[in-house]
Amino acid sequence: MNDEIMNLDYSLIPMFNNAKVFPFHSVDSTNEVAKELATRFIPEGSIVISEMQLSGKGRRGRVWYSPPYRGLWFSVIIYPSVFPQELGKITIAAGLSVMRAIRKLGVDGVWLKWPNDVMVGDKKLSGVLVEAGIEYDIVNYVVVGIGVNVNHGRDEIPQELLNIMTSMRLSCGKEFLRAIVLSEILKNFRELYLLVRSKRFHVIREMWEKESGFVGKRVEVLSGNEKVSGIVEGLSDEGGLLIKDDNGLIREIWMGEVSKVRV
Ligand code: BTN
Repeated sequence: MNDEIMNLDYSLIPMFNNAKVFPFHSVDSTNEVAKELATRFIPEGSIVISEMQLSGKGRRGRVWYSPPYRGLWFSVIIYPSVFPQELGKITIAAGLSVMRAIRKLGVDGVWLKWPNDVMVGDKKLSGVLVEAGIEYDIVNYVVVGIGVNVNHGRDEIPQELLNIMTSMRLSCGKEFLRAIVLSEILKNFRELYLLVRSKRFHVIREMWEKESGFVGKRVEVLSGNEKVSGIVEGLSDEGGLLIKDDNGLIREIWMGEVSKVRV
């Protein structure tokens, strides 16, 4: 075991000028700490990172398993000038940043399940939880929480998660320096976030459609109470999922959970 997270070399963290790093050994959730800091206008690009989380949060109120020494659990604070309905763009940019980083570091077979689960085969390697402070129609801040299972061995994954989660190490048989994984993700996120900020989301949309590995797959999505089945066509200009349903109609899904994918 080591103190890689507490002793991070900040020069590895390529975000924005003045951005700060807030390292912790243990917090309930880095997103919660980051949300609190964001209300105090901590510089954009600052990150909160913790060796472990006691109540790591997943999407849809789920728990995110965040043990010490094996993963990356961090949250990036940004202040984009977007409308609440554009937050999907940030979500897509974050997922794509993580997927590209993991691929670049040599993990094969990685794909992105909309909106931002990074998968290897049918197991999840990383997830993103975007939370925003919104007042009326104004987005005051956005916290992009990223969890990556980096160096977990098989015996370090709880029995009940063995069928649904994996790690970078398990997927390619070697250990990774978490600081390098973090640096690679942040480098990508900076680039893609700047595209969102400069109103060029279409560039991200095209990358996603080319690289995610999700286009053309047959899926079932639960959107509210409705189940939509069909073939993934791509993304809309706002980051919604476009599916050609079984009647040949193009449906745009904003919020939902992809419940089945034929890989
Ligand atoms: C998901 O796929 O369900 C989202 C998982 C997000 C986990 C990360 S770990 C860092 C940050 N802090 C949290 O409490 N959650 C996110």
